[in-house]
Amino acid sequence: MTSQFTPRVFSGIKPSGGLTLGNYLGAIKRFVGMQGQMETVYCVVDMHAITVWQDPAELKTATREVAAGYIAAGLDPTKSILFNQSQVSAHAELGWIFNCVARVGWMNRMTQFKDKAGSNAEKVSLGLYAYPSLMAADILLYHATHVPVGEDQKQHVELTRDIAAKFNHDFKADFFPITDPVIDGPATRVMNLRDGTKKMSKSGESDMERINMLDDADKIAKKFKKAKTDPEPLPETYEGLKDRPEARNLVEIYAALNDMTPEAVIAEYPGAGWGTFKPALADLAVAKLAPMSDEMRRLMDDPAEIDRTLMAGADRARAIAQPILEKTYDIVGLLRG
Ligand code: TYM
Repeated sequence: MTSQFTPRVFSGIKPSGGLTLGNYLGAIKRFVGMQGQMETVYCVVDMHAITVWQDPAELKTATREVAAGYIAAGLDPTKSILFNQSQVSAHAELGWIFNCVARVGWMNRMTQFKDKAGSNAEKVSLGLYAYPSLMAADILLYHATHVPVGEDQKQHVELTRDIAAKFNHDFKADFFPITDPVIDGPATRVMNLRDGTKKMSKSGESDMERINMLDDADKIAKKFKKAKTDPEPLPETYEGLKDRPEARNLVEIYAALNDMTPEAVIAEYPGAGWGTFKPALADLAVAKLAPMSDEMRRLMDDPAEIDRTLMAGADRARAIAQPILEKTYDIVGLLRG
């Protein structure tokens, strides 16, 4: 079904809190890997961020931080389209159409909403509930065929497929592609450094449980050296990491940072103690991440330049999105003058 569509990548990151190693390995590093292989469109999804309260000044800084993270990691604004979502109003407009396509029952099954709303579901914003339909609009506004994301976004991309299929069916139009989530590599779910059963996230209680993309070399090394582990040394084979979430997480982070498989990491460090492996991981992480965090800080010293890059990207994004939105309105029967 997607074969009639030009291959195009779309993905995005919310500017809420800082970027983490989870965002880098699960998303940004993979975005860079797809650049040059097909058309790539990467967004800072600020309208998603405001589904929970954001301080306005901090939101602007966080938006620039995600853009700086993209560029520092190797996304080139001349090769990829880089922009922030709110500058292309077609996202909100298609989001509304999809609110009228998606079913309440589908939204009720979204596990991320249930986790975020918890026992407070009556008090969260309507936007948080409708969020997956805006995410479908982000993707389908570009007729994107490939969406690289971490494991936690899989259900939202599947919902995007359901929305596309229902739209195509209801309007008897083969218009939207049935998009593939791209969830590959060793780090599609980077875990918390203090509790290997929880995802590494921007919002965890302690800063020691995550690596931030803006952490300097000392912090990165310290956090890996203090990361929780179990008392056993590394196993002789990858299978030996089963039921050892903290150990497995550190091996997978090493693998992802060094572009190797976790099996190859174990083959390099069979039976190694933590006194050997943790310093090796800390050195590797500092070598890979510290230059990026330095570059992010340098870029963020010139916010006007970041703003110009995002504005130019938004112009290019609009050129793809606007005709697709207009065609959608026409298919739906919304009269245009
Ligand atoms: P967000 O901002 O929470 O996360 C951005 C990307 O980072 C990935 N990620 C992780 N990957 C591995 N391990 C982790 N610990 C980890 N934490 C985060 C996420 O899977 C994601 O790929 N709804 C999305 C943003 C979005 C979007 C889109 C994505 C809006 N529209 C359209 C793709 C296409 C979100 O909140 O991601």
